[in-house]
Amino acid sequence: MIGSGYVGLVSGACFADFGHVVTCVDNDEARIGDLEAGRMPIYEPGLQELVASNRAEGRLAFTKDLAAAVKNAEVVFIAVGTPTLEGSREADLHYVYAAAEEIAAAITSFTVVVNKSTVPVGTGDEVEKIIRARRPDAEFAVVSNPEFLREGAAIYDFKHPDRIIVGTDDPQAHVVMHEAYRPLYLNAAPFLFTARRTAELIKYAANAFLATKVAFINEIADICEKAGADVQDVARGMGLDNRIGRKFLNAGPGFGGSCFPKDTLALVHTARTLGAPTGIVEAVETGNRERKRRMAGKVLEACGGSVAGKTIAMLGLSFKQNTDDVRDAAAIDIARGLLAEGADLRVYDPQSMEKARPLIPGATFCPNAYDCAQGASALAIVTEWDAFRALDLERLKEALAEPVIVDLRNIYSPAEMRRRGFRYTSVGRP
Ligand code: UDX
Repeated sequence: MIGSGYVGLVSGACFADFGHVVTCVDNDEARIGDLEAGRMPIYEPGLQELVASNRAEGRLAFTKDLAAAVKNAEVVFIAVGTPTLEGSREADLHYVYAAAEEIAAAITSFTVVVNKSTVPVGTGDEVEKIIRARRPDAEFAVVSNPEFLREGAAIYDFKHPDRIIVGTDDPQAHVVMHEAYRPLYLNAAPFLFTARRTAELIKYAANAFLATKVAFINEIADICEKAGADVQDVARGMGLDNRIGRKFLNAGPGFGGSCFPKDTLALVHTARTLGAPTGIVEAVETGNRERKRRMAGKVLEACGGSVAGKTIAMLGLSFKQNTDDVRDAAAIDIARGLLAEGADLRVYDPQSMEKARPLIPGATFCPNAYDCAQGASALAIVTEWDAFRALDLERLKEALAEPVIVDLRNIYSPAEMRRRGFRYTSVGRP
């Protein structure tokens, strides 16, 4: 497994748990040291235990030495980062290509090289060219096998996938991939074998579609606010139609994370390059970026138009619950917006404070939700952690200077909050 980040580490640990012998490689020496000491670079429920038990069984190891790991491997997964290139929409593929070069040099017998990183259509062709150029003699096949793991539920998703997509025309690779995922095959998880370029596009199409669903309901929420309708009921009413489905229709502050923002941007770029521009995905990406910036305004409005010199409390910094990931999180945009408006900002998150600290240097980081609320003129709930769903509202009210709550995840009931004496606003609800 080349790359021991989010995808590589979860996939590596899960493959080891299937009974395979897995070596996770990373060029970050400190990370390898941490992993060997049992310290995880990310917060993901269940991961630490899964890594520990498979290491104890001798099925999972960590190393910096890519060549040694690849030499005897039947399958090599490339699971390195593909961030957005600075100042562009394009995915930065240089980690993928560097990995391909190194893998090429280390191959000994027939090896299946699998792209698990999210890569634009045609990257598999490039990887194949790189390996072929470096090692005209090598026996290998390049396969696309995108991941669909949700952060916070990644281990569950790996072991209970809705589908496994394998893009290859090579019959030998087909067999090896089946074998790699054998336990899931026995559990009757749907396998879809496609051409490699098709598999690459499935990943982007799926993420862009989900992102569109979220962006769509967020627009409907804006309309609901003007129309005096309730977006949660609208979403329920829509979702009961089987063709639409209930999931991914929760209105909120805008989608974030390491995938949707980056993948929608990359798809827009690919589509333009191919001469088949996608107006829909472009609108989703732009609209969502603007939405996240606009959300600080909801707090301003709740404070009578200004937060200058006021203490504001914010609960939640990660882009969603059950993760410490703050990449492209709405909370970061909101915090920056409030700080720029002159607020004295107090923040709390159960897991992501360490990662958020360098991004919002002006904020005060608090030890818990009640301390965070202390003396604040308003409290914004930005991430839907379970721990925020059943706060002691009396205690919260006592801590706050003004009983003002801006709930950007709709986790409380407007009627109940009014009854308890809060001035409460949420998203897309009267
Ligand atoms: C996503 C995909 O779900 C996964 O299949 C893919 O492989 C990686 O990208 P993840 O980034 O972990 O996973 O987050 P996800 O749970 O999909 O949520 C993305 C964002 O959308 C979050 O900011 C979340 O808060 C937001 N969202 C999601 C909503 O605002 N409303 C919803 O109804 C669903």
